[in-house]
Amino acid sequence: MSALGAEPAAGSWLDRFHAVCNAAIANPRFRRFAASFPLTRPIARRRAQGVFDLVSGFVYSQVLLACVRLDVLNLLAESPKTLEALSLRISLPMAATQRLVDAAVALKLIARCSDGRLRLGSVGAPIAGDAGIAALVEHHALFYADLRDPVALLRDGAREDGELARYWPYCANRSGEGFAPERIATYSRLMSASQTLIANEVLDAYPMRRHRRVLDVGGGEGTFLAAVAARWSHVDCFLFDLPPVAERAAARFTSLGLKARTLTVGGSFLTDRLPLGADLLTLVRVLHDHDDDSVMTVLRAARAALPSDGRVLIAEPMSETPGAETVGDAYFGFYLLAMGRGRPRTPARIGEMLVAAGFSRPRLIPTAMPMQTSVVVAEVATP
Ligand SMILES: C[S@@+](CC[C@H](N)C(=O)[O-])C[C@H]1O[C@@H](n2cnc3c(N)ncnc32)[C@H](O)[C@@H]1O
Repeated sequence: MSALGAEPAAGSWLDRFHAVCNAAIANPRFRRFAASFPLTRPIARRRAQGVFDLVSGFVYSQVLLACVRLDVLNLLAESPKTLEALSLRISLPMAATQRLVDAAVALKLIARCSDGRLRLGSVGAPIAGDAGIAALVEHHALFYADLRDPVALLRDGAREDGELARYWPYCANRSGEGFAPERIATYSRLMSASQTLIANEVLDAYPMRRHRRVLDVGGGEGTFLAAVAARWSHVDCFLFDLPPVAERAAARFTSLGLKARTLTVGGSFLTDRLPLGADLLTLVRVLHDHDDDSVMTVLRAARAALPSDGRVLIAEPMSETPGAETVGDAYFGFYLLAMGRGRPRTPARIGEMLVAAGFSRPRLIPTAMPMQTSVVVAEVATP
């Protein structure tokens, strides 16, 4: 701040250009002109819509929550329905169904057929039948409860009895001992349901032809490794997670007929050694849950578990990902704040931490959908 309390003029010509543009956009007379002039009208409308969407995002997400809770999208995926038929199936009065349908049509969750019946819309189609998205939407009720006072959350951090802190018990209790099985099951199911898309992204981006054994650390119920085993028949799979989670993974591998190709080990990557024998170690949606000191502990443990030709693969949504900034920086930034631990990191920051832990050549591997996950791979550094 200058002596007069005003910000000094920004430095580069680009900063000054943006300052002039922002001053113009902030001026109501300029906005009226831009909205009426044919060449600027589409831009003005898009910008105004963007502002409105930002202001109204919570309402939109609650319309989606109502559709998920009432199973509207799956019902319409079965077959198009009249308003009356839908109202009967979701046990909601006609007027309320009409209101929900109008909102859902506006959000493209639902669309109207030419004969007036209701069908899935272009936004609803990928959500219908995806148990992972439904579970994610449902558990957002907890996240939004923690976000009720965002300034207090920023100022004071997450409360130990916050909804997300309780949902993810390992945030408060690092050893995983004494967790109620139902709490483990709840978050493990959510992770498993949302894992399939991630696994395909990672496996499309990083072929595992050269690897013989993959150790997935923080591997949850084993959904990622099950996808590895299905795609690469020569690869054996090791999973490491907190003991009660590793037990769930073992049961899952057995039920999938993968017992002979898998090994599950229970423990804490913050205090225990990781199993030896893998030439690729994966950390999928794990590092962002932890603060820097814990991440360094995990990465050093990973380095110690790998042979000299080993590699490590980190997959998670990352900060400053072009085109997906809202996911890494806004959504995960606040999600992890509410959870009480961790942060989204840039690929460069993850690379620095990998090098500090004894890896070399960290590189970003392009994925088709960086908003779901980015992938960084590094090699064990040779002395
Ligand atoms: C966000 S979940 C991701 C699970 C899985 N990799 C996926 O992407 O679906 C984080 C996983 O790390 C595990 N985890 C957390 N703290 C751990 C610790 N100290 N030691 C071992 N595993 C831990 C959790 O139990 C959970 O399965």
